Amino acid sequence: MKIFIDSADIEEIRQAKKWGMLDGVTTNPSLIKKAVEKLHKQKKRIDIKEYISQFLREVKGKPVSLEVIGTNFTDMVHEGIHLYHLFNPIAKNVYIKIPVNPCIADTGKCDYDGIRAIHALTQQGIPINCTLIFTPEQVLLAAKAGAKIVSPFVGREDDYIRELNKSRFKKEDYFPAEGMKKLRKWRNDKGIVSGVDLIKECKTIFSTQKIKGCEILAASIRNVRQFREVALAGADIATLPLSVIERLLEHPKTREGMQQFTKDIVPEYAKVVGFKGKKK
Ligand code: E4P
Repeated sequence: MKIFIDSADIEEIRQAKKWGMLDGVTTNPSLIKKAVEKLHKQKKRIDIKEYISQFLREVKGKPVSLEVIGTNFTDMVHEGIHLYHLFNPIAKNVYIKIPVNPCIADTGKCDYDGIRAIHALTQQGIPINCTLIFTPEQVLLAAKAGAKIVSPFVGREDDYIRELNKSRFKKEDYFPAEGMKKLRKWRNDKGIVSGVDLIKECKTIFSTQKIKGCEILAASIRNVRQFREVALAGADIATLPLSVIERLLEHPKTREGMQQFTKDIVPEYAKVVGFKGKKK
């Protein structure tokens, strides 16, 4: 499984890259806002075009998704072409993110222009990451329309099922892969019982229907258990915030073992190892 960082923060992208496990980057307008606000706080001059160009260069050879902000066919296609031609020449790694079924912010009214825009941009050779996916049916249609990546949102699917059940889970809490069946009257989302279940269903549809040339990216991953379960479910890619990537490496027994080994260093071994630190 490939691991992407879900961030538009260049310092975070650099850090994940140093660890040698980074396969790509996903951004969205909220992550760009977070990065811009951080620059504002640091009183840094903001040239967002240069900023994005920098992190594209930083991860040359690894896909970076940039999202459109329009909500109708014309705007999304225009922005998709514009973003792609502006940024792809820099490191040849841009994917354009298109919502499967965008909604107009003021009215909440959804239209079907996303799927049309995916098809139109694909016809122009622009690789698409179809975003804001919550059903296996959306995944199937997006792949048929030509998307190279489809992004079902694991954490937000859990949020939605929690809302349906008025549960008090926090955003970052683990949500059981099998749903909250322990509740007496428990409500699922049209048969989907959790975010991880959403990934499993998408995977099953892809293999049953023999869909090729499109990768399933598990998005909106908020904790380690979700990461493990989407890996077990066979997601092709998982995108994670840096805070979750860090937690993947943590275990109290790893820390405890290291403390013990450090205590047990004998001078003879320290010498042969070329140990330069101080024995505690
Ligand atoms: C995916 O590409 C999205 O940027 C992202 O994973 C959303 O995550 P969130 O639901 O934690 O905001």
